[in-house]
Amino acid sequence: MFRIIVWGANGMAGGELLRLLAGHPELKLEGAVSRSKAGQPVWHVHPHLRQDFPSETFISPEEAFGRDSHLVFLALPHGSSWPVIEQYLQQKVKVVDLSADVRLSNPEDYVKWYGSIHGAPHLLERSVYGLPEVHREEIRGADLVSGVGCNASCSILGLFPLAREGLLEDARLELRVGSSEGGSNPNTGSHHPYRSRTLRVYEPFRHRHLAEIVQELKTPEELFTMTMTAAGIVRGVQMLAQVRLARKMKESELWKIYRKYYQGEPFMNLCPARPSHLRLPDPRFVMGSNRVLTGFSLHDDGYRLIVVSAIDNLMKGASGSALQCANLMFGLEETSGLEMRPLYPA
Ligand SMILES: NC(=O)c1ccc[n+]([C@@H]2O[C@H](COP(=O)([O-])OP(=O)(O)OC[C@H]3O[C@@H](n4cnc5c(N)ncnc54)[C@H](OP(=O)(O)O)[C@@H]3O)[C@@H](O)[C@H]2O)c1
Repeated sequence: MFRIIVWGANGMAGGELLRLLAGHPELKLEGAVSRSKAGQPVWHVHPHLRQDFPSETFISPEEAFGRDSHLVFLALPHGSSWPVIEQYLQQKVKVVDLSADVRLSNPEDYVKWYGSIHGAPHLLERSVYGLPEVHREEIRGADLVSGVGCNASCSILGLFPLAREGLLEDARLELRVGSSEGGSNPNTGSHHPYRSRTLRVYEPFRHRHLAEIVQELKTPEELFTMTMTAAGIVRGVQMLAQVRLARKMKESELWKIYRKYYQGEPFMNLCPARPSHLRLPDPRFVMGSNRVLTGFSLHDDGYRLIVVSAIDNLMKGASGSALQCANLMFGLEETSGLEMRPLYPA
């Protein structure tokens, strides 16, 4: 068994990692780190995991550094991961960091999108962006892998085949997102009475996850706008992209291209053309799973295309992808511990 420590284990993504580790045949939780909850039972924060961790208590960062582990997941706010990453890499422990601290490979991009100079820019060169569908072989040999932005991963996976084939003239991205994206600390925007049943549009044109999309699709930022809508759901991200194609296309060509990239991918699913109400995916169809659904519809003019992708933000958009990467880093079956089916209805 490989020993695993989860930092930020009392948080949203950290809790999801604990759920996944509880069902993993070859990874074992060695410590669940929380500064504010150290000493308290894990299940007091994550009551759904009581049966899995009946006597496990949260540990402090100091205790965590004193325990042996093969890999650590860091589910911490951005800006707080990099000092922890440095300590673990010195101890030759593998790291998967779910924050934005090592997602961007260019330090100047970090300044541009996160508004401050990176504390350890050398880590950016060393880390691999944690999306196996794009970087599988690099992840296998890596000791430092980033997590993914949930909105970014949903968008990248929806548009990757088009970008790689040079077919994106431009794209307007609309992201509909659930409240768990905001983490477990409520504010006036995320507090239930204000957030539930909402349809609140924010960050018009330019969300910071665009930085990852541009980096991974290798396309200029000017091609995209990305606008967010807070939807009245807890989990789930849906990306709707209004794409202008670089050349006139037939739907059969698009099917061929999407199949070329995603056939054999364990978590990628293309929506069928029929029935029409299942052609463009609803995040409810992937809830609680690591699956991705992508569907598209081409306008009669052959140039205008709508692409829709759906994921569970805490799974494929965070902890599921992170575990998929860890499996690869250990040389395990990539799908290990991630075979669960979606909950429906949920
Ligand atoms: N939520 C999502 O859908 C999602 C998706 C993709 C990526 N992510 C990323 O995953 C990370 C965690 O997100 P989350 O939603 O799980 O946030 P969260 O619910 O707020 O949890 C973060 C946890 O980190 C701990 N923490 C805060 N500051 C710390 C510090 N300086 N040092 C050590 N621990 C600290 C806190 O616990 P203590 O104060 O008790 O230590 C907190 O509970 C973020 O970087 C986020 O961008 C989240």
